[in-house]
Formats: sequence, structure tokens, C-alpha cells
Amino acid sequence: MSAIKKQIHLGAHFPGVNNTTVWQDPESKSQIEFDSFVHLAETAERGLFDFFFLAEGLRLREHRGRIHDLDVVGRPDTLIVLNALASVTTHLGLAGTINTTFNEPFELAKQFATLDHLSGGRAAWNMVTSSDAFTGENFRRGGYLDRADRYVRAREIIDTARELWDSWSPDALVVDRENGVFARREHIAQVRHTGPQFDIDAAFTVPRSPQGHPVLLQAGDSDEGREFGAAKADAIFTVHGTLEAGQAFYSDVKGRLAKYGRERDDLKVLPAATFVLGDTAEDAEERADAIRHQQVGPQTAISFLEQVWGRDLSEYDPDGPLPDEDPTDDVNITRGRVRHADPVQVARDWRERAESKGLSIRELIIEVTTRQQFVGTPAQVAEEIDSYVQNDASDGFILVPHITPAGLDEFVDKVVPILQDRGSFRTEYSGTTLRSHLFGSDSAALNHPDTEREGVRAS
Ligand SMILES: Cc1cc2nc3c(=O)[nH]c(=O)nc-3n(C[C@H](O)[C@H](O)[C@H](O)COP(=O)(O)O)c2cc1C
Repeated sequence: MSAIKKQIHLGAHFPGVNNTTVWQDPESKSQIEFDSFVHLAETAERGLFDFFFLAEGLRLREHRGRIHDLDVVGRPDTLIVLNALASVTTHLGLAGTINTTFNEPFELAKQFATLDHLSGGRAAWNMVTSSDAFTGENFRRGGYLDRADRYVRAREIIDTARELWDSWSPDALVVDRENGVFARREHIAQVRHTGPQFDIDAAFTVPRSPQGHPVLLQAGDSDEGREFGAAKADAIFTVHGTLEAGQAFYSDVKGRLAKYGRERDDLKVLPAATFVLGDTAEDAEERADAIRHQQVGPQTAISFLEQVWGRDLSEYDPDGPLPDEDPTDDVNITRGRVRHADPVQVARDWRERAESKGLSIRELIIEVTTRQQFVGTPAQVAEEIDSYVQNDASDGFILVPHITPAGLDEFVDKVVPILQDRGSFRTEYSGTTLRSHLFGSDSAALNHPDTEREGVRAS
């Protein structure tokens, strides 16, 4: 009998305000109306995906003092959307990106436990650590967190949330047909947490949820980010897309698990990926090229350049060469977006690349902003995705369609059946919780080494 193949895990990223989204396509619909969310979620569930995924931007980005073109469509609240989706789906995981800098652990623990209850065990939290002062201006404590402390706070928020989730023992809630539903007080612990970030004395309000803890995702690529993911997360969302970069990242983060008493399979690595399908390889390449030109129009190309150069470059021709002079120090030209660490070096690299290949500004920006893309016939795309997973460059992908909300339809109709024929993707959901889709068992949270901790004491 042949060995069971490594299984592919798939997430469906709601495209929203991504740089990859093509809004001028006649097929593009609202990113606010519930129908759009329902469409993508139902498609993902039809395709037996592990989860639906929402990113988060807490402040609309600004470029040259105006709200960024992509952000004018707005960003609705992640958790409210996911709770609404719980009612129209049955198996699909519901993953929300929620910031650990600007929120409080009690509030988040309560919200994710509630989502886990309402969805029957399908909640996931992508713990992001953006800590910039521009975003902070939206909050009471605007800009207070030193960047160096972003993971200090993130670790403590997760530890505190876990103490809260664990404070109701699994048998605290009793459903008695004659006497109704009640909780056994002695099975609910008072949580007293004292740390540098939080000082809490709380009786948690939500009974233990179906997964115990929501599935935890991490996105953040620094050494500290990777360490945080290895210590705390069930999956890492990354942008390391090419086979070689993927393999290097995969082996790096999996190599960090042992010191936390974790196995290599306890953490899934899921890069973002886009895809373009065609009837032939040439047809797909042509479509991909047309899409890239839609994603990076002449104006977008110039504003990307301005983010590096830090000044108004509107006098430049997008179809002409890059500016000769080096960038300025204006870090405020684009706000709410990470600026390149060393703009002068980035500018020099881009100029060199453009000169050696004879690229215009727009062509260069298309090259440097193209993320991992699977381009080809459905069979080619299925083969490539499978090869990344079987060769340990990833455990699957979070797919980012370029059309809202119908961009995933043809992937589910054409690529998923081929992945299933290859024996690399499920043909039905075997469990009901997200943890069971990812790990084949519901009990991983209970076994997680971090669940035994100080700070939870029976009252
Ligand atoms: C693939 C990926 C996706 C991310 N998505 C979001 C997001 O939706 N919202 C957000 O506020 N931050 C997001 N982040 C930012 C990270 O959470 C983190 O704050 C940032 O990368 C800085 O951490 P680092 O220095 O470890 O990379 C994302 C990062 C990565 C790598």
C-alpha cells in the first residue's frame, strides 16, 4: 500500500484592500456587502478549504496626505463579519486578523471564545503586532508601544487570553434537561494575572469553547516574529513564496519548535499566493500579464515609487526611466504602511535592475511587487502547488484571488478536483472543527505545552 501523501491546507483570503485586487474588472463587486463575504466563504467551503481569512487594517493608509486609493472602499470589522459567516457555513474555519498592540486580552479572549461557540469550533486568530504611532492615533494609547516591545505585549496577551480560556474547565457547564443549563462554580477559576503589560483579576464570562482555544496564526517575519510563531502559533502566514525561499523559511521555523516541546507538524506554514488559470499555458501567461498591468496602473506605479523616494514624483513618466537622484528622508509621504528599511539601498537596487533589464518605472514596479503566483492550466497549477507542499516549501497556501468575491470560483471548480485526484487534498471534511481540518484531531489545544501555566488558580 502506498504511503499517505502529505496533505495540502488551503485558506481563502478575502481580497479586500490588497494591492492585488483588481477593482476595475466588471466582475468586481462590493467589499462591504454581506453577499460578497458569503460568496467567497461558500465557494471556499464547497472547495473543502480549511478556512476563510480576513486581514485587518486599523487605520486607512494615506499617501501624500490623501487616503490611499485602495483604502477608500473601507474596512469593516473582522469579528462581526466572521460571526455573521458562522451562520451561513458549517465546516469552514473562520480566521480573523486582530492586532495585539491596541486591544485588551479580556476583550479579545471573550470575542474569540464567542466566535468559537457560535461557529461550533471554527475560530482562528491571526495575531498581528503592528505597533506604528500612525495607527496608534486611533486609540487612547496612541503610539505608546515601542516597536521593540511589540512581541513582548503579543506574548503576554496570548498567555493572558489562554489563562482566561482555560479558566472554565471542560465540565464546568452542565446541561440538565430537567433543571436547565448551569455552570458549576467550583469548576471556574478566578484569573489573576500580573505582568509588565497587564494586571488582571478576572472571572471569565464565556464557558470553555469547542476548540478550547481558537486556532492561533502568526504573521510577522523578523527573528522575534518567527520565535513567537514557533512558541505560540498553530500556523504561520508568510510571504515566502518561491520554492527555495519557502524551503529556507519552512526549515527555519520548524527547526525552532523543538525547544518549545513541539513536533514539526504542530505548526503549519502557509504562504500567501495568487493564481491565474488559463486553457493553455500561453493563455494563462497572457491573462497574468494583463492582470499585473491592471493591478499596477500608471498612477499606482508612481505612488509605489514615491513610497521609496519619499517625495512627489508626479512629473515622472511611468513608461520612462527611474529617477536619477537618491530618496529623501520624508517618512511621512505614505502613512500606515511599512517603509523600506533602507530606501537609498532599495532605490539603487531598483535602478540597477531597471537599467540592466531595460525596464520602465511601471515595468519595474510590476516586477518588484509580484508575489508568489501560480500561473498555468489547472493541471499545471495543481502540480506546482502539490510540489511546493511535498517538497517542504509549505504546508499549503492562503490563496488571494484578485477579484472580489468570485475570484476563487474557478480554482475550486478546476484545480481542487485535480489536487484530490493526486491524493493531496481532502475529498470531504473529516471533522467539524478548524483544528481537526489542520491537525486531524480536536485535542491539540489541550495538549499544547503552553496550556499548563502559572496564573490560573481556582478561586
Ligand atoms: C504575511 C503577512 C501578513 C500580515 N497581515 C497583517 C494584517 O492584515 N494586519 C496587520 O495589522 N498586520 C499584518 N502583518 C504585520 C505583522 O503582524 C507584523 O506586525 C509586522 O510584520 C511586524 O513584525 P515583524 O517585524 O516580525 O515582521 C502581516 C505580516 C505578514 C508577514
